[in-house]
Amino acid sequence: MVSPQKSVHTIRIGIIGAGYMGSQHASFISRQEGVELTAVADPFSRTLAGATGAAYFSDHRELLASDMVDGVIIANPNAAHVSTAIDALNAGIPSLLEKPLATSLEEVQLLIGAQRNSATPVLVGHHRRHHPAVTAARAAIANGELGKIVAVNGMWLTRKADTYFDAAWRREKGAGIMLINAVHDLDLLRFLCGEIVSVQAMVSNTARGLAVEDTAGFVLRFANGAVGSFIASDAAVSPWTWDQATEDDATFPYNRGSFCYSIAGTAGALGFPQLACHSYSSELVQSGRADWNHELSLHYLSRDSGDSYTNQLRHFAAVVRGEVAPLITVDDAARTLAVIQASQQAAASGTAVQPQLVFTTAGSAAP
Ligand SMILES: NC(=O)c1ccc[n+]([C@@H]2O[C@H](COP(=O)([O-])OP(=O)(O)OC[C@H]3O[C@@H](n4cnc5c(N)ncnc54)[C@H](O)[C@@H]3O)[C@@H](O)[C@H]2O)c1
Repeated sequence: MVSPQKSVHTIRIGIIGAGYMGSQHASFISRQEGVELTAVADPFSRTLAGATGAAYFSDHRELLASDMVDGVIIANPNAAHVSTAIDALNAGIPSLLEKPLATSLEEVQLLIGAQRNSATPVLVGHHRRHHPAVTAARAAIANGELGKIVAVNGMWLTRKADTYFDAAWRREKGAGIMLINAVHDLDLLRFLCGEIVSVQAMVSNTARGLAVEDTAGFVLRFANGAVGSFIASDAAVSPWTWDQATEDDATFPYNRGSFCYSIAGTAGALGFPQLACHSYSSELVQSGRADWNHELSLHYLSRDSGDSYTNQLRHFAAVVRGEVAPLITVDDAARTLAVIQASQQAAASGTAVQPQLVFTTAGSAAP
């Protein structure tokens, strides 16, 4: 039930799309001060509304018009993201829009245009950017602790339950490992290491035999000249994912020895998420002996405690109150989507593709 003792300043949140992720968001809301779930919209399920005591709407547009919410979390299937986010903008309701922003760049242009004509904020749900280990790694990279970034390697390899694919949309164009999972990692690599300016990619669907890819490999060139590689699969047994390495999401067992990214620069290397920083001593550097013939020293970056979903929700509440601008805007997330779309094109063509945002919407500018 909606708690009667919540303060008048409590942010009232509506959830649109009450499946797996919508239910996760309801659980995050239930354990956080200053926010409450007041309404749920889902054309096919009343379960979450029933379980939480929130008002139920079959149509999200009725929820948006209900005067029962200060902000909405949009967690419906990918293909509905753009139209739902535009409905929220038109209603003047701030939204936290789950990733991916859209299923294609063509589609996302409508949302970019709508966002640029509106003062209502949209925060895109690349939640990992809110993780304290990401904050620490980004600061260390920005401060030059690794020198100039040279090479990056990453993995997101796990075996999803077969029943995950019972939902038809997860088997169809608009889903797949690139848009569902690798989009998080490539967004983070952009956030940590700078823009990705060229990609090559290969995909495979032979493990699961679905229409969408279950496995993908990426070769990345960053704007600063660094080169990266990333592999992702939802059909491979492995501990090497963000989810199992970070303890970020209690849904997944934590694997203490696991890791997901290695970032190497001209002055040091960073293992993520442990934040293990390898470098040569200042004595070796000053004497011109900082090379592979000498032993690396190791220290760990300090970081705050906390998890990305809690921080994301706290940030969203501040966005709704008008205190801060969204950490991940539509324009920013569109650049991540451009990397994914370029990867899809690269996999299909067998050639390198440059991620490009070519906005055709009136009034929008090229990046
Ligand atoms: N941030 C993350 O780590 C993360 C994790 C999982 C899923 N997601 C994203 O969350 C979204 C939902 O994924 P999921 O796994 O919860 O899917 P899901 O299939 O479990 O749930 C989707 C829900 O949306 C409902 N729905 C369908 N059309 C709708 C509409 N027009 N309006 C409102 N509701 C509608 C469905 O009935 C279903 O209950 C996807 O975009 C996915 O990419 C993000």
